[in-house]
Amino acid sequence: MTTPLKDKHIILGVTGSIACYKAADLASKLTQAGALVDVILSESATRFIAPITFQSVTGRRAYVDADLWSGEGHVVHIGLGQAADLFVVAPITANTMAKLAHGEADTLLTVSALAADCPLLIAPAMDGGMFQHPATQANLETLKQRGAVVVGPAAGHLASGLKALGRMVEPFEILGHIRHLLAQDGPLTGRKVVVSAGGTQEALDPVRFIGNHSSGKQGFAIAQAALDLGAEVILVTAPVSLETPIGAARVDVTSAREMLDAVRAATDDADVLVMAAAVADFRPAQTAEQKIKKEKGVPSVELARNPDILLEVAKHKQKNGFPKVTVGFAAESENLRANAQAKLAKKNLDLIVANDISAQDAGFAVDTNRVVLLSAAGNQEELPLMSKAEVAAAVMLRVLQLLGDHHE
Ligand code: C5P
Repeated sequence: MTTPLKDKHIILGVTGSIACYKAADLASKLTQAGALVDVILSESATRFIAPITFQSVTGRRAYVDADLWSGEGHVVHIGLGQAADLFVVAPITANTMAKLAHGEADTLLTVSALAADCPLLIAPAMDGGMFQHPATQANLETLKQRGAVVVGPAAGHLASGLKALGRMVEPFEILGHIRHLLAQDGPLTGRKVVVSAGGTQEALDPVRFIGNHSSGKQGFAIAQAALDLGAEVILVTAPVSLETPIGAARVDVTSAREMLDAVRAATDDADVLVMAAAVADFRPAQTAEQKIKKEKGVPSVELARNPDILLEVAKHKQKNGFPKVTVGFAAESENLRANAQAKLAKKNLDLIVANDISAQDAGFAVDTNRVVLLSAAGNQEELPLMSKAEVAAAVMLRVLQLLGDHHE
């Protein structure tokens, strides 16, 4: 599946910090995501890690300072810089930050950075005191003002034994920021997409709730797919144990009624709503203030109906036209298409994603899904078994088409 990293030229500058070992993991992750990664090591980085480590994970040559003076030396830095879609320095030391802030160009890394005409992303790593030093802070500010994206540093254990701000953030997080940066100027740039995810929880008492098996995976994948197309994403989620896709604004909710409020607020001016959440249809009519005690006998629980969020959104849309495109999900255990079709009409949706939850490899908790897409215009498209990320990309592609049909 393609991501904004596919076929992108990324220069990964690596400078002399113990966090260099994490840079090898970053280079590997970038390469696995389809990027073409040219690594440039500073002299001191080569004391921590060898160029061959990077060459092995990127399948491409890794450069060192000596290459600046090699036979092709007079063009290496210009060539690297011009081909790049993104210049990353991770880890970046206080020394290299100072050099970049002042436009110094005395090494292959710094001269390439000066020659490059692309965004710059840096992930600082240094001891706490060095990071807090006014000189470092001033250099950081200069780089930020010039448009550099600064990721981290994180707080935690440092090589000196200090617990402070100075750790390079983890490679998966840097990868997320790179993905987000490279997705700018996508077809959904300037569009606001609201995604709901997870299974709502309806409290019985302070410790118990009525819930469902939704893992949130499909909704989170939809949020990532929308980010990959450049959208501004608001992810309204019931409790799940998943990392927030970098770039998404996450709104945590618990119950269906809380989700309704959050979705209503977010969709007031949104282009798209994708309701991937499994919303409880019923809640306990009363939530006990204190824990229900078994000594008092078997309780009977009366249920009350929850609002249907999509129906409420549909009412609002009739009045002010937002969200422009609404997508629902239909998890069905029988009569998949007929039930989904009925929901599409009843909830006034533009698209419904129907999945058969009785299938082993689709639906709750697993990483794959098998869905049929039904549109209000009458199109039906059966997708083969695919990852939830692929389903999400396919859904967002249909959304893109629907937005195109929706005249501005
Ligand atoms: O009616 P049903 O629950 O099968 O419809 C599923 C779709 O409706 C999903 O998109 C779900 O997020 C949404 N839904 C809702 N409010 C509810 C129940 C479901 O918006 N109370």
